[in-house]
Amino acid sequence: MKLKSPSPTDLNRVLTFLKQKLRPQVDWSINNEYPIAFSNFNINNIKFIESEGKILSHALLKYLMIKTPAGIFKVAIIGSVVTDEQHQGKGLAKKLISELVEKAKQDQCELCILWSDLHDFYYKLGFELAGSEEHLTIENSSSTNYQIESEWRFSDDPKINPESIQKIFSKHLVGSVRSNNEIKAYLQIPNSNIYSLWGQNNELLAYAIEGRGVDLGNVVHEWGGGVHHLNQLIAHILKKQSQLQMIASSTAINLVETLKKNFKTTHNTRTLGYMKPLNVKNIHAKVLRWARIQGEYHLQTFHQNDEVYLRYKSKNYRLPNEQALTRLIWGPIDPNIFQNLPSDMHDALMKVFPLPLWVWGWDIA
Ligand SMILES: CC(C)(COP(=O)(O)OP(=O)(O)OC[C@H]1O[C@@H](n2cnc3c(N)ncnc32)[C@H](O)[C@@H]1OP(=O)(O)O)[C@@H](O)C(=O)NCCC(=O)NCCS
Repeated sequence: MKLKSPSPTDLNRVLTFLKQKLRPQVDWSINNEYPIAFSNFNINNIKFIESEGKILSHALLKYLMIKTPAGIFKVAIIGSVVTDEQHQGKGLAKKLISELVEKAKQDQCELCILWSDLHDFYYKLGFELAGSEEHLTIENSSSTNYQIESEWRFSDDPKINPESIQKIFSKHLVGSVRSNNEIKAYLQIPNSNIYSLWGQNNELLAYAIEGRGVDLGNVVHEWGGGVHHLNQLIAHILKKQSQLQMIASSTAINLVETLKKNFKTTHNTRTLGYMKPLNVKNIHAKVLRWARIQGEYHLQTFHQNDEVYLRYKSKNYRLPNEQALTRLIWGPIDPNIFQNLPSDMHDALMKVFPLPLWVWGWDIA
């Protein structure tokens, strides 16, 4: 049995395997959905196990630089994890994930994130369900009186200049660093609706992307623009359908509030995904820096002899494991855990944590 990255010629075999296992029902190849993850320059981050020329299991990594107010994080996204039915339960996926995690560590990633329903599988590998995102269901309802203004031009044409999207996307408080070519490739993902709002000088003011291949149908997972323009764009989309869902970073407070005010909206906060710290030293340094930005000079986290600690005003508190650290840093925070702490420490923790972090829909591998 061999664990390896595909050569350029192997890549087609890998794509055929993934089509059979993960996308049998659609008429496109999985690399159309994940153009960056399966691009030639990411080939060393694609891993598969084969035996006698037959692919048995596959998983891949994609690296992202994510800008946040707490610093830039190099994040490894894991995706397309699958083992042939005849070979499941033999430790193949576990082996691939462990290999990818080691590679991401070597490549100086600080954090690994993935999306899955297999809690036990990923928990055993050191991942914790953590982070947060805002989930909105917005309905087309006659009970709201929100009007579309006549000065805007709306378009459903996917042909948008990537530079215009880049200009708006880069204004987000939390967002990945993307090239224009990456945006161009993402705009071509099948099964996406691309909505946009343009100003009188023909400048792009807002955009919203709904759907992504077989995933995120009816979900706006990528968007950009001013809060007012986005509200107008949502009103435009709702003229065509009875409801839509939208996901957003927990830092998008104004947007969420105005959407709730203007539309019939159900809102809840969900966990982001499975997360695992890869470079704890860098993460501790970012926590320390972020705490200071918040005016908290006595709060830090650290490792000592493989144990994880939270330190406040010269007193150390040992955390049960690294997964508890993940949950502390990115949430969701269970208020009961903080209940018996001194009130100044409680307030400091609530001020500093969770650290802002989000992954946009196009960035998911
Ligand atoms: C999920 C999947 C990739 C696991 O592959 P695999 O090669 O069988 O997994 P492994 O043999 O490496 O299992 C590793 C561990 O996870 C456990 N595990 C495997 N599948 C699991 C599942 N569906 N639910 C919970 N635990 C699971 C195994 O018992 C094993 O635990 P152990 O180390 O304590 O023995 C495989 O079942 C699959 O391809 N499923 C269909 C596609 C899919 O759901 N992909 C996930 C996308 S994130």
